[in-house]
Amino acid sequence: MPPHPIPHLPLFRSALLYATAVLLLFSLGYIAGLLSATSLLIPQLNTQTPIHPTVGGSTASLSPLMLPAKTPQPPQSDPQLRDLLNFRTECASPVPNDFVLPILLNRLYNNTSPYANFPSPETAKLLLPTAAKPRGWGSTNPVFADLISSLRPLIIIELGTFLGASALHMAALTRNHSLQSLILCVDDFRGWPVFRSRLARHVPAPRHADSLLLHQFMLGVSVAGETGRVFPVPFSTSSALAAFCDWGIYGDLIEVDAGHDFHSAWSDLNKAYAVLRTGGILFGHDYHTAADNHGVRRAVTLFARVKGIKVLPHGEHWVLAPKPIASGPD
Ligand SMILES: *[C@@H]1O[C@H](CO)[C@@H](O)[C@H](O)[C@H]1NC(C)=O
Ligand SMILES: *[C@@H]1O[C@H](CO)[C@@H](O)[C@H](O)[C@H]1NC(C)=O
Repeated sequence: MPPHPIPHLPLFRSALLYATAVLLLFSLGYIAGLLSATSLLIPQLNTQTPIHPTVGGSTASLSPLMLPAKTPQPPQSDPQLRDLLNFRTECASPVPNDFVLPILLNRLYNNTSPYANFPSPETAKLLLPTAAKPRGWGSTNPVFADLISSLRPLIIIELGTFLGASALHMAALTRNHSLQSLILCVDDFRGWPVFRSRLARHVPAPRHADSLLLHQFMLGVSVAGETGRVFPVPFSTSSALAAFCDWGIYGDLIEVDAGHDFHSAWSDLNKAYAVLRTGGILFGHDYHTAADNHGVRRAVTLFARVKGIKVLPHGEHWVLAPKPIASGPD
């Protein structure tokens, strides 16, 4: 903003003070309004409603729930506060599905499959034998089968993969439905501080501070014979989603299951929605987790409210209504 000369008039000064106070009150009122409206919604969100959404926006069998139609307006008066709600919503034109894998192989792996000659003998001896089912949380809940059978997604994006339990479950489901789906697994594959204390049995010992989670995940994918369907994108959710947005890579189904604190979930939701295809569905785990004072649920509730769409609890998961036509490319 260009600097404005301020006249030294007492009258002007008090008017300025008054205007500042009004602005401040307005901003605080806006935030308080958001917070109280959000917390009021939470008790209504505990209903467990089985859903059977259909691609293309048909909501015939979606049970409508809660959420007021009213969308909060960003505080126009304060550009810095407005930034909190501003996310990129327009991405590059979608590339055809057949181009997604070649683009990723080219941009991320110099046109060589990350699974080529994997694992090398040196890597293999650092990894654990693969479990029949890798350690996960709610990874085979009915929500996956419900969404995959009704939506028939060809591009699935998963944010938060860990050892790949839900990715491999989705791979099996798409295989059983004869879908040539590609599952893009976005994760930094480092876990989180002290994750090892509770999960030592399930993860390899770290090597020079590297958690080896990426390679343990890739071994599980190889052993399951799903290297053609399950593709590692080993970056932070923010950087990977920004790249997908730039490259026109959209998901028909996006699972948000990375950071469980409010701000991580809020950022992931907004950035993932930009690369969700029209009629596609965003869903995620830990709707009921208490972490960060129900951070995931607070983020999902606020997001659904800002976008004016419904959120449907599904067991431990939450599912958003299909992305409406007006809000993005298809
Ligand atoms: C990419 O692969 C080509 C061979 O296809 C190789 O010549 C080149 O050095 C590789 N580039 C990098 C950065 O590894
Ligand atoms: C896929 O089909 C096979 C063979 O019918 C079955 O054993 C397996 O449980 C199915 N997988 C899933 C995830 O439904």
